[in-house]
Amino acid sequence: MRRASAKRLHFLAGLALSAGALGLLLLVNSCSTVDRAVVVPLQIEGATFVGDQVCFDCHTNISRVFPSSPHARLRIENAAMAGRGGCESCHGPASKHVAAGGGRGKFIINPGKEPQACLACHLEVQAEFHLPQHHPVLEGKMNCVQCHDPHGMDIMKPTGLAMARLNDTCAQCHREQTKPVTFEHAALREGCTVCHNPHGSINPKMLTIRDGNLCLRCHAQVPGQGGPGTLYIGNVNHSGFVRIGTCWSAGCHAAVHGSNVQPFYLY
Ligand code: HEC
Ligand code: HEC
Ligand code: HEC
Ligand code: HEC
Ligand code: HEC
Ligand code: HEC
Ligand code: HEC
Repeated sequence: MRRASAKRLHFLAGLALSAGALGLLLLVNSCSTVDRAVVVPLQIEGATFVGDQVCFDCHTNISRVFPSSPHARLRIENAAMAGRGGCESCHGPASKHVAAGGGRGKFIINPGKEPQACLACHLEVQAEFHLPQHHPVLEGKMNCVQCHDPHGMDIMKPTGLAMARLNDTCAQCHREQTKPVTFEHAALREGCTVCHNPHGSINPKMLTIRDGNLCLRCHAQVPGQGGPGTLYIGNVNHSGFVRIGTCWSAGCHAAVHGSNVQPFYLY
């Protein structure tokens, strides 16, 4: 939450600056060392911005839900910025689309097919998708909307409140890790993202941490519990084990997502 609001402030500060200094350009924050980065709004040859009201007649359902989306909060209603914070921030200037009476592929950007439309603003996310292990979005095999709802209230589909929904998004494609099991690993209740970065990571399997520290965040290790030189984790003497490899390597907790047969997820 704090991260999000800090980001928003940053964004608004940038926006104010751009409105003053650069008129037509939309400013968005980035992770660069410079405090702000200029992002040119999406362009469609010969088209101009018309504003969200115009979409309402033909796309009523989307227009009705959109005000609850986090992106709707970005709308800045003033003459210089008209249209640039709403629908057209993702779909591009729509005057030609409207003049043509609308239609698929008619002078409008669909970021479901063109993630670059999202990445123009989300530079940090773009960087994550360039890490060695990543979901194949930039390769065109997946897209942002398989995990994010662009128009509704719940853009963070996977981080909804209910346990069942928390991992639903991931479950569409990863049945093996999300099927019901006799011995559940309670860690999954906090969501797949406690252990995986959903966009990309430098670590194998998109893990947030590459070694045993991934597990030790929640399972405290107690040195010396069984005498000098011993190492206890979860009341089990692990002194000899941790030398063999990391917690989930062969022979240890290989069934880390839960098991039907073994309460310590060994297999
Ligand atoms: C955060 C970016 C974003 C904003 C803002 C946005 N959209 Fe979209 N829109 C998308 C994405 C992504 C898709 C593709 C969705 C999919 O493929 O399921 C889409 C798809 C659509 C479609 C096609 C739906 C279909 O049946 O394929 C329409 C129409 C549309 N948006 C209209 C709007 C209108 C009207 C607004 C403003 C009220 C709006 N959008 C605001 C990102 C956005
Ligand atoms: C005159 C009616 C009309 C208006 C006004 C209109 N559209 Fe459309 N639009 C359509 C029709 C018809 C389609 C074809 C798909 C459908 O029936 O939903 C479409 C499709 C789209 C698509 C999907 C394109 C694709 O290739 O998949 C998007 C995105 C979209 N419109 C965005 C907008 C936005 C944003 C606005 C307002 C700035 C807008 N439209 C205004 C009629 C309209
Ligand atoms: C015009 C710039 C812009 C575009 C284009 C854009 N975003 Fe955003 N997006 C933002 C800003 C700024 C925020 C921060 C909003 C906030 O904190 O309220 C944000 C927030 C988000 C969030 C986090 C929401 C939250 O509650 O923390 C997600 C997820 C997201 N965007 C996904 C997308 C996707 C997917 C697309 C393309 C379909 C997209 N964005 C297109 C500017 C943009
Ligand atoms: C495999 C599912 C998945 C895909 C594909 C995906 N995201 Fe996400 N995204 C997530 C999840 C899950 C989170 C929440 C991360 C968290 O809570 O730590 C998230 C968070 C975000 C955020 C909030 C800031 C952050 O990094 O925490 C933004 C912005 C965002 N995504 C944008 C995008 C854009 C843009 C795309 C497409 C280029 C995209 N995402 C594709 C799952 C996905
Ligand atoms: C739309 C389908 C889809 C969704 C939704 C999805 N993934 Fe994936 N996932 C993939 C694909 C495709 C790959 C790449 C598989 C490959 O390269 O063999 C992948 C790879 C992975 C990998 C690495 C697997 C490996 O063997 O290296 C992990 C971990 C992963 N996803 C976790 C998640 C999490 C966590 C979520 C939810 C936030 C999620 N996925 C949502 C399709 C999806
Ligand atoms: C407690 C940490 C943790 C949580 C929570 C977690 N994973 Fe994993 N996941 C791992 C580890 C560790 C590996 C690597 C296993 C290996 O290399 O053998 C992995 C591997 C994977 C893989 C690659 C295939 C495989 O099984 O090796 C996928 C796909 C995956 N996880 C998806 C998910 C999904 C989806 C969720 C949420 C339902 C999830 N994970 C939750 C730790 C976790
Ligand atoms: C987000 C916190 C979290 C993370 C991260 C986590 N676990 Fe767990 N794990 C739990 C909780 C909670 C339980 C249930 C403990 C209980 O019932 O006393 C549990 C139970 C277990 C158990 C069953 C034995 C026991 O003490 O009940 C094993 C084995 C286990 N985890 C291994 C791992 C491994 C291996 C990893 C790293 C890949 C890991 N855990 C990461 C929270 C976590």
